[in-house]
Amino acid sequence: MKINKLIIIPIASILLFSCAKQEDITVSLVEEMKVRDLGEKYATELLRTLKQNLMKAMNNGGPYNAIEFCSTKAQNLTKMVEEKIDHGIKLKRTSFKYRNPLNKPDKYEVEALKIFEKYYKEYGQLRPYYIQKVKEQDGKYYYRYYKPLVVKPLCLICHGEPEKMDRQLYAKIKEKYPEDKAVGYKPGDFRGVVRVSIPVKLLDKLQ
Ligand code: HEC
Repeated sequence: MKINKLIIIPIASILLFSCAKQEDITVSLVEEMKVRDLGEKYATELLRTLKQNLMKAMNNGGPYNAIEFCSTKAQNLTKMVEEKIDHGIKLKRTSFKYRNPLNKPDKYEVEALKIFEKYYKEYGQLRPYYIQKVKEQDGKYYYRYYKPLVVKPLCLICHGEPEKMDRQLYAKIKEKYPEDKAVGYKPGDFRGVVRVSIPVKLLDKLQ
């Protein structure tokens, strides 16, 4: 008896100590619903802003002009929407086949992209969203909401089969993004995701 206690107490305290240090990364149903609503709202806001600006640039000088626009503005516009939303919420677009190396997926995004791809292969349609709770590089915990993006005919102008793309346009893309991977898509393909990171503390405040 005595020996058992001597062993069990230290083990139990080690377990308790390590549990207390590690934040629980499971997401409850109530949290999921809140993250989904907020995430969807902000992902849509980013997409709307990008699309409006893309269309404006296309109308002003065609896709050739729009490439100039995208390569200088897409990152800035994302930051601008982030600042407008505020509350420490962070936005990113990412894909396995990324054009801008700044959009390269991190390990959690790789996991999310794989889940969307697997679902797409199994069910022939896009999973509506995916949610994680992760510790980001700043040491804080965030919920991550992922919204999938589908390729539409318009996207092929800049993300289609290189042989079918405007030659001058493709040359310009390669000049701006020598490592470009974001071509060869067909309408209906899974293109990537918008990621919305929401601080855990923010969600707590909203309760
Ligand atoms: C006028 C050309 C053009 C069109 C049309 C276009 N894109 Fe892009 N796309 C770009 C450029 C340039 C980038 C790189 C932006 C950057 O530097 O962050 C990009 C980046 C992206 C990214 C971020 C990941 C990556 O590859 O770096 C996604 C996702 C994306 N595009 C999806 C789409 C979808 C979906 C459509 C159609 C609705 C579309 N694009 C239409 C030019 C275009």
